[in-house]
Amino acid sequence: MCGIVGCILNNKKAAPVLLGCVKRLEYRGYDSVGIATPTHKIQIKKDQGKIVDVDKNLKLADLPGTMGIAHVRWATHGLPTKENAHPHTDCENKIAVVHNGIIENYKTLKEQLEDEGHVFKSETDTEVIPHLIEKYMDAGEDLENATRHALTDLKGSYAIAVMSKNEPDKIIGARKESPLIVGKNENEYFVASDVPAILEYTNKIIYLNDYEMAILGENGVLIKDIDGNLIEREIEVIEWTPDMAEKGGYDHFMIKEIHEQPEAVKNTLLEASEIKKVVQKLPGFSRICFVACGTSYHASLTGKYLFESRLGIPTDVVLASEFGYSSRTLNEETLVILITQSGETADTLKALRIANKKAKTLAIVNVLGSTATRESDYVIYTRAGPEIGVAATKTYVSQLTCIYLLLIYLSGRHELLDILQKIPDHMVSALEKENKIRDIAKKYKNTPDFFFIGRGFSYPTAMEGALKLKEITYIHGEGYPAGELKHGPLALLDEGVPVVAVAPPGKSHDKTFGNVEEVKARGAQVIALGSRSDEILKSEAHEMIEFEDEIDEMFSPIPYIIPLQLLAYHISVEKGIDPDKPKNLAKCVTVE
Ligand code: AGP
Repeated sequence: MCGIVGCILNNKKAAPVLLGCVKRLEYRGYDSVGIATPTHKIQIKKDQGKIVDVDKNLKLADLPGTMGIAHVRWATHGLPTKENAHPHTDCENKIAVVHNGIIENYKTLKEQLEDEGHVFKSETDTEVIPHLIEKYMDAGEDLENATRHALTDLKGSYAIAVMSKNEPDKIIGARKESPLIVGKNENEYFVASDVPAILEYTNKIIYLNDYEMAILGENGVLIKDIDGNLIEREIEVIEWTPDMAEKGGYDHFMIKEIHEQPEAVKNTLLEASEIKKVVQKLPGFSRICFVACGTSYHASLTGKYLFESRLGIPTDVVLASEFGYSSRTLNEETLVILITQSGETADTLKALRIANKKAKTLAIVNVLGSTATRESDYVIYTRAGPEIGVAATKTYVSQLTCIYLLLIYLSGRHELLDILQKIPDHMVSALEKENKIRDIAKKYKNTPDFFFIGRGFSYPTAMEGALKLKEITYIHGEGYPAGELKHGPLALLDEGVPVVAVAPPGKSHDKTFGNVEEVKARGAQVIALGSRSDEILKSEAHEMIEFEDEIDEMFSPIPYIIPLQLLAYHISVEKGIDPDKPKNLAKCVTVE
């Protein structure tokens, strides 16, 4: 949820570099920011607020020293205040810690430490960490051992970066169930919760596993396990350029990422041979169970329609947060497919760990080296590139592409590849509708409610359209199977309520058209998505977004989602909301 970074530089001031790094991480947490650097004492500048505002007031980059740690916070324990902002320190201000995760037993630890005389300055769970390290350093341990000792006291999840004025040439990083990476350049070392944070400075990355520590300092980078044993770990060279993680001329990351979608799908298609290899390695299974959250859940739902209708394999879709309540139906005949952009979503990881005990697991993931990729039996990468906007867009279409590729290799229907290869062109055509969609956004930006309806393959598209609208415009949006409207929600339809009908040609079309007539008869404003030659739909709809006739319902989920993403984006901009940072949401949800 929060973003952390630390660096040791060679004859260069650390604070401006750390500031640049946390700016890249801002999408992960936006209520507070802080930087600490050690010289003869630990100096900290931190406050609640957006980085740009805090920097204006405190001049964060002015901190002296060639090493330091920094943090951007998304509050979980304690309100967003200056006191609760990281870095946190011990009683004597000799140790500073930044942390991402949740320390579940912090209350007990805090009570014990207070009984021993430690004085706390914040309401955070994190603050127990510097006090524990202080306790063990006071007992004679060095920073590395005291940190290791402190970690054994913690229950919960953490990625941390620690430094001390007593050893002002060292940063200790450690992780358990929260991501942490190490970056290396010649004589310059970094730790960070996320690759884009440090990509401007290095693309040579070491991924830490749970219960591992990184010791950055005069000996370079040492990776050790929690018992202090040295670990050999390969350095991976990340091909993302810093530019890929920047806005690239667009107003927001989200719109940049919406426009990157044809490219993202092409990149995913380049994974076809890898996906084929994974399919060849899979054990026999008679049942599939998709597990995911949010947008990834909607991709999974599309997977269910595809696999059941085109493969004939019984396929369940379970929300990861609900998985623990239904997992007993799993067995060795089940393939559990987890879809997660970040590979770090706490609900999905928990489900993965349950599934691993009973079935084979396959993760479809965007973030290389993330926890899901390391804990699943099989992995497929979506290769959509870094996605910064909180609202998932390009990773969704890449997830869908992976599902189509899986279907193709599982079914042996290689002729479908030709259709899939043409999808990026259809996506480009859909993006060309942006001006029209901007006009529709202006027209409906003040409406309090929206409905999105579709049947079969278009039902997940409707759900995803509604989720996009909700998360970045704060407008109430309901995604519904079109046929379900008459069983209740129709009562909510008043004069003028916009209903977005996803109605590509195919088996579901005529019935969905019937629902369009049904809502129109009740005064709804119909925004229809359908085929160019669908004259009858065009005649009923108040607005019509047209697609090439050859896109039938089976492949519609990829191109047809684009107008819905654009609609949400432009309404958000019209309303003056920052679509990249919707309130109450974060890119990666690392708490259950
Ligand atoms: C998507 O727009 C959302 N921000 C959210 O629903 C997201 O898809 C969900 O939290 C799952 O994330 P994951 O794919 O990284 O696991």
